[in-house]
Amino acid sequence: MKSGFLEKLVARLDRVEAGEVQQILARLIREKGFLEKVFEALREGVIILDPHGTIGFVNQAACQFFGLDPERAVGNKLSSQVRGLDWDSLAKPGRSISRDLEVFYPENRYLNFYLAPIDEHAHSAASLGYVMLVRDLTSTRAEAEETLESERLNALTLLAAGVAHEIGNPLNSLDIHLQLLGRKLRKLPAADRPPLEESLATAREEIQRLDTILKQFLHAVRPTTPRRERHDLHALLHETLRLLEPELSSRHIAVELDLAAALPPALIDPGQFQQVFYNLIRNAYQALPATDGRITLRSQCNDYEYRITIEDNGSGISPEVMGAIFEPYRSTKPSGSGLGLLIVRRIVRQHGGEIEIASETHHGTRVIIHLPRTERTVRLLTTPAIEL
Ligand SMILES: Nc1ncnc2c1ncn2[C@@H]1O[C@H](COP(=O)(O)OP(=O)(O)OP(=O)(O)O)[C@@H](O)[C@H]1O
Ligand SMILES: [Mg+2]
Repeated sequence: MKSGFLEKLVARLDRVEAGEVQQILARLIREKGFLEKVFEALREGVIILDPHGTIGFVNQAACQFFGLDPERAVGNKLSSQVRGLDWDSLAKPGRSISRDLEVFYPENRYLNFYLAPIDEHAHSAASLGYVMLVRDLTSTRAEAEETLESERLNALTLLAAGVAHEIGNPLNSLDIHLQLLGRKLRKLPAADRPPLEESLATAREEIQRLDTILKQFLHAVRPTTPRRERHDLHALLHETLRLLEPELSSRHIAVELDLAAALPPALIDPGQFQQVFYNLIRNAYQALPATDGRITLRSQCNDYEYRITIEDNGSGISPEVMGAIFEPYRSTKPSGSGLGLLIVRRIVRQHGGEIEIASETHHGTRVIIHLPRTERTVRLLTTPAIEL
């Protein structure tokens, strides 16, 4: 509606013909309807209030944010409809304010609202009322938290990668010296050799194992984008079990496999996923009791995702530990780094997946990895689109 239209109309009201009044009214109603439609289409909440805080109009988005019923809200005070918003402390003629607030009903959301007076004339103190614009910050806030977390992880990654790299050098030198020792050993009388050769072989095997772990660790923590290729998740699970075999068999841990009959190859970075399985299976067996420890590995697949479950009947996770389970350096183990799950989550998320952990103290823990089948990027819905 053009500004001044109403003023001009009022000024010449005595000269307006009866037929013209009808036309003008129809135009006003049309334009009001148009504005209402615009307000309804907005994702921001819009509430129009009179100077005393009585709601004159509320759009759909605002109703959703505050759980309002538009029929009942209009004509009532804002303070009575949104508990915790004290109108008298908010509204002052001529003052606009912006505030953040958290609402718990109907959903937990972080909102920001902006309240501005609607003045009759730009410089007059007489207010016609207020307009309140409400924005949903919930997702922005979650994104900010994720950014913070990934920055923290990056700093941590650099540090860990640096340490791991430094360990690699002495390890290399140890291996070279053991090789030299091996050569000298061959010059000893045959009868003296076997026990020494056996110790040497064990030492070199252990060094190899450390080296593999280190390489995997560096591979996993380096902030690289996954190099994806089609790979069989089952093959990776078996490979990881083979890697952990010495620990698993020495503690008589039963590993049960409940694998899907046919699992289509997944588009993943195999090295990174091996790290995921390695960390999770290691967590599982570290939590197991001395006897009757059991780990179950399960795989499922539907049209949209792969689901890999690692379940144990170990100590479980207490609610306090669960609350900070992905925090770096939080470990309940004497020699744990508290980085395992953090790395797992980063890799899974980089593949577009999610990790779910459920646990009951003294009964066990179930970790589920949800991995989307990325080849299906578009899903046509059966419900027809709503026409506006
Ligand atoms: N399957 C599980 N059962 C019981 N507790 C678990 C399990 N998985 C993780 N936790 C708990 O979560 C904590 C964090 O696990 P995370 O793998 O991140 O670190 P960590 O195992 O302590 O150390 P790292 O993996 O770096 O050697 C563990 O210290 C443990 O208390
Ligand atoms: Mg761990």
